[in-house]
Formats: sequence, C-alpha cells, structure tokens
Amino acid sequence: MKVNLSEAKNIIKKYCAKEGALIPLLQDVQAIYGYVPEEVVELISKELSIFPVEIYGVLTFYAQFYLTPRGKHTIKVCQGTACHVMGGGEILSYLSDTLGIREGETTEDGIFSLERVACLGCCGMAPVIMVDNDFYGKCTIKKMEDILSNYQKEKSI
Ligand code: FES
Repeated sequence: MKVNLSEAKNIIKKYCAKEGALIPLLQDVQAIYGYVPEEVVELISKELSIFPVEIYGVLTFYAQFYLTPRGKHTIKVCQGTACHVMGGGEILSYLSDTLGIREGETTEDGIFSLERVACLGCCGMAPVIMVDNDFYGKCTIKKMEDILSNYQKEKSI
C-alpha cells in the first residue's frame, strides 16, 4: 500500500529547524501512521540530511517504535517473573497458536498484534495481559478465549 506522505511533510516542517528533534519527530510520525513507514524514513533522510542508518539506529534502539503496520488491537503478554511463574508462558503460547502469529507480528486481518512485555506492575494479578489500555489479570486459557471472542465480535459489528 502506498503511503501518503503529506502528513509526514508537515511533521518534518515542524521539526526541521530544531536540533536533536529526531525522536519527537518519529513519535509524531508514528502517532499519525501507527508505525514508521520506510518511505517516511527516506523522506526524513532527504529533507533533514540524516543518513537512513542513523534513523534506523534510533528506531531499533527504542522499543516504542514499530517498523511495520500494527493491528487494530495490541495484546501485551507479561512475561515478568510473577507472571512467568503463574503461567504467562502458556498464555503467550496459546495466543500465538490461536492467532497464528509470533511476538512482534500482526494477524493477516490486521486485528491483533502480539507482544511480550516485562512486568506490567500488577504482579498480584499474575498472569496478566493488556489489550490496548485494558488490563486483564488472573488470566487463564478460558479467559483468553472470551477476550479474543469479544474483540473479534467487535470486528464484525
Ligand atoms: S510480572 Fe507480570 S505484572 Fe509483574
């Protein structure tokens, strides 16, 4: 799919005179596109005279940046110590098998992206997952079935 670069051009204009503004610029790009498209990296490189390798260095260093389109919903599965001990690994395997994707990937229908994360800060509820901004604690496989089903129903509405 061709990326519309007009938004990116506006963002670059906003930051072009600012020293050390690459990270906020990339954050703005991601806020618009949902990820940082290759075409935008090329544009930033050309407009701001920054080598693409430098831009990719920043993009791959910070976990907040995505280089591929994200799903409508991002499922973060905690693999911190408490969640690991309480079965977080099985939850992650179940979601990966059921959705047919591995960590860092997005389902073909563009509904879900799957991520492994460290402690989400509510270990007493382990194992924990987060879908977008919603927390789900004391997760079981049954609970995962219900959660996925709810988000998939939303898709068909
Ligand atoms: S280890 Fe999962 S919430 Fe802390």
